[in-house]
Amino acid sequence: MFVCICKAVSDKAIKQAIAEGADSIRDLKARLGVGSQCGKCVCQASQILHNELVKQ
Ligand code: FES
Repeated sequence: MFVCICKAVSDKAIKQAIAEGADSIRDLKARLGVGSQCGKCVCQASQILHNELVKQ
């Protein structure tokens, strides 16, 4: 499922980036481009980030 339509970033790609060490929205933005255009995906991306970090 795409989280960021603008940059075609899936939840899977976000989870992968977090597994590889991304630990902030800024980090995800730098790695994947999430939230770098319209910004509508930031809320959902931070939800995924939070959920994944809690698991670690
Ligand atoms: Fe992610 Fe637009 S949907 S920047």
